[in-house]
Amino acid sequence: MEDMAIASKLPTRVSVYEVSPRDGLQNESAQVATHAKVRLIDALLDAGIARIEVGSFVAQKWVPQMADADEVCRMIDRRPGVTYAGLCPNARGLDRALAAKVDEIAVFVSASETHNAKNINKTIAQTLKAFEPVIGPAVEQGLKVRGYVSTMWGCPYEGDVDPSRGLELAKHLIGAGCYQVSLGDTIGVGTPVQTQRILDLCAADLPLEQIALHLHDTRGTALANVLIGLQGGITTFDASVAGLGGCPYAPGAAGNLATEDLVYTLHGMGIETGIDLEKLWQAGQVAEAIVGRELPGKVHRAGVRSLEK
Ligand code: HMG
Ligand code: MG
Repeated sequence: MEDMAIASKLPTRVSVYEVSPRDGLQNESAQVATHAKVRLIDALLDAGIARIEVGSFVAQKWVPQMADADEVCRMIDRRPGVTYAGLCPNARGLDRALAAKVDEIAVFVSASETHNAKNINKTIAQTLKAFEPVIGPAVEQGLKVRGYVSTMWGCPYEGDVDPSRGLELAKHLIGAGCYQVSLGDTIGVGTPVQTQRILDLCAADLPLEQIALHLHDTRGTALANVLIGLQGGITTFDASVAGLGGCPYAPGAAGNLATEDLVYTLHGMGIETGIDLEKLWQAGQVAEAIVGRELPGKVHRAGVRSLEK
């Protein structure tokens, strides 16, 4: 009976937003060749990923790993029904995104001033100003715009962050034209009761379909926070295959929640994703091969299911 009570509150379908080619590879010390990035993206799409961040249109001197985003976009095979997205910090980034013919851009701001300054060299107010020639013009030119609010659960420089600061930013981004805002636990410090508080706060002011969760799994709490999100009505979760990644301007940030761990858990709960878990696992093997190091995802390491009967 209790199981049914939990299940009755869950969505039947969840949208997985794959960020490994961007959030994953931006933090790798190994130089990953452009054709290898394309191979990873192909493997992810073969698995049924339908929303994917393929790179960043940011300054090369800030994140050299993403310098070839334009080339990646030229080389990838465009498939019907797939949304290709790129991170975009300013008007220059929008020009690159338009030339690269992505479907969507993502703007990003932090709920804490210090992380924001380290990440984009601006105050939060200056960042919002810098988005004015980005969000509106992007929408006018047919792009979808997503927003991120980073450090919502905690900042690597300032510690605890008041979530109402993040909520104000999320509301601002939605008001400016973002169709969805992904709330970031950038350094993976969040725990379930905190997540519940954040969602309660946001749900009072924003429609839940406009909120996504972007959970780094630094302390192993991401899936517990996903469950809180599911029970609270969230239906988009960001993830990175095999747990690839981090943030170059958030020391200690580990990878995002591994996509295989998310999908395994969702499917086990009867929630559809449209993703083939076996093929996703194969994509994780591609990720590991191209970065040349062991990746931490749990399902990636254990396999989709035990071979023992
Ligand atoms: P700045 O140095 O203050 O800006 O950087 P600038 O305008 O003085 O530009 C510096 C140089 O970059 C100039 O070149 C510009 O032309 C060039 P130079 O004259 O020195 O040769 N430039 C660009 N080049 C290409 N594309 C552009 C671009 N813009 C300027 N779009 C800036 C400000 C915002 C550009 C910089 O701080 C930046 O690019 N930051 C990006 C940092 C980043 O990508 N961080 C990781 C992603 S965020 C994240 O991971 C968190 C997230 O996953 C959510 C979560 O986990 O919470 C999203
Ligand atoms: Mg991130």
